[in-house]
Amino acid sequence: MRFFLDTANLEELKIGASWGILDGCTTNPSLIAKEGVKFEDRVREITEIVDGDISAEVLATDAAGMLDEGRKLAKIHKNIVVKVPLTRDGIKACSVFSKEGIRVNVTLCFSAGQAILAAKAGAYVVSPFVGRIDDTGADGMQLIRDICLIYKNYSFETQVLAASLRTVNHVIDSAKAGAHIGTMPFKVMDGLFSHPLTDRGLEQFLKDYNKAFSK
Ligand code: E4P
Repeated sequence: MRFFLDTANLEELKIGASWGILDGCTTNPSLIAKEGVKFEDRVREITEIVDGDISAEVLATDAAGMLDEGRKLAKIHKNIVVKVPLTRDGIKACSVFSKEGIRVNVTLCFSAGQAILAAKAGAYVVSPFVGRIDDTGADGMQLIRDICLIYKNYSFETQVLAASLRTVNHVIDSAKAGAHIGTMPFKVMDGLFSHPLTDRGLEQFLKDYNKAFSK
């Protein structure tokens, strides 16, 4: 399973990259807005930190505008994956991009039917939003399981990028379901390290060693 950070914050990305387990990054207009910086500038800065896929989302809502923006984004760096929303225009743009060899992340996926459309349009990855489905009272993780099963049934090459992961268990359950990638906020990735028995065990090891050899 590849691990992506769902952030446009450079400090978080630097720490994630220093751990050696960071495979990529996803951004969206809200995450960029939170940083208060110019979109293309921030995407360029991210390419200098993250050695892996970097999703950059178009702002246009019509296919022609998405194609124009996406082609420019793809030229910034070879690792850029153009992110388009799962709308009729987004799927139309995705079909064209995939024929041009531009990799696409189809985002805002909330149903298995939508995920089939993304795969048929040649998307590189599809992003089902687990947490936002949970917010409605439905089971977001079931969507990950359904899409993984359908893609396997038809040998679709599109990868499942489990998104809107809010907890460590979301990451673990996505891995169990067979999601190819999980994108998560920094605090969730950091949380994967934590276990009280690890802390207690380490403390005890050092205490025992120091007791025996410190005199
Ligand atoms: C995915 O690419 C999105 O940026 C993200 O996962 C959305 O997560 P949220 O629902 O926690 O905002």
